[in-house]
Amino acid sequence: MTLQVQHFDGAIGAEILGADLSQTFDEADQKAMIDAWNTHSVLVFRDQTVTPEQFLRFSRYFGQLEVHVLEQYLHREHPEILVVSNILEDGKNIGIPDAGRYWHTDLSYLAEPSRGSILYAIEIPEEQGKTLGNTIWASTAAAYEALPVSQRTLIDGLKAEYSLGNRFTKLAEDGTKHIEMTEEQKAKTPSVVHPVVRTHPVTGRRGILVNEGHTTHIQDLPAKESQLLLEKLWAQCTKPEFTYRHEWRVGDVVMWDNTLTQHLAICDYALPQRRLLHRTTITGDRPY
Ligand code: OGA
Ligand code: MN
Repeated sequence: MTLQVQHFDGAIGAEILGADLSQTFDEADQKAMIDAWNTHSVLVFRDQTVTPEQFLRFSRYFGQLEVHVLEQYLHREHPEILVVSNILEDGKNIGIPDAGRYWHTDLSYLAEPSRGSILYAIEIPEEQGKTLGNTIWASTAAAYEALPVSQRTLIDGLKAEYSLGNRFTKLAEDGTKHIEMTEEQKAKTPSVVHPVVRTHPVTGRRGILVNEGHTTHIQDLPAKESQLLLEKLWAQCTKPEFTYRHEWRVGDVVMWDNTLTQHLAICDYALPQRRLLHRTTITGDRPY
């Protein structure tokens, strides 16, 4: 393949031209993809058609794959694929209907959060020619680097608690109908402690890890101070100049590096407008 990396104007993201994800990548192509992923954090591939097997083969070039704890939303034949969808079958959701309602980093509530994730768009809602259900990614590295040195020094030494339950608490507070986790799922996801700022394992770049979806509080600070600092850091990460907004088309594959990004799903559609994506999730290491 002759791959071309065309980076976007802003702080984050690139489109990869010349890639056919249904085919195998030789070692040079795999390395080019991995380098682009580490450098640009979000990679967009347009006009792809892949079977689940081909999607999994492509995903494995980047690492081992997770099986998500919300097992009711896993692809029936391929548990490494998480179905993201608002579609109902027999009155039941075939996939996770409310992924990404809050700015978050995938699996930051685990001791070893995921290194990256990949979404493949199969059905995308639209209204009068306008694409709905966009996803926005933010560069937490660009956001961190734009802070004054005194602020960076302050947050460099802090740790925070992260929990999957936090997301469900927020959905309940916002009055959004959501599933309840089983006792077993709760037991598998106790809250964890990670630094407020993390380091990229390959590039050494640093970025803000605390995120609205999963962070409950910063350790060793009074509750109010913790909340004020979190809100300030979240607002910093999601400033438009640090973000890329993706308007999905059927056949898009978007992969991202969870180390230095957060993302948000825009929920501006509802049935009968259908949305269906397949997600794979790459395992990662403990943040430092
Ligand atoms: C995810 C996610 C956002 C979306 O799958 O990790 O946050 O727009 N999805 O579906
Ligand atoms: Mn996500």
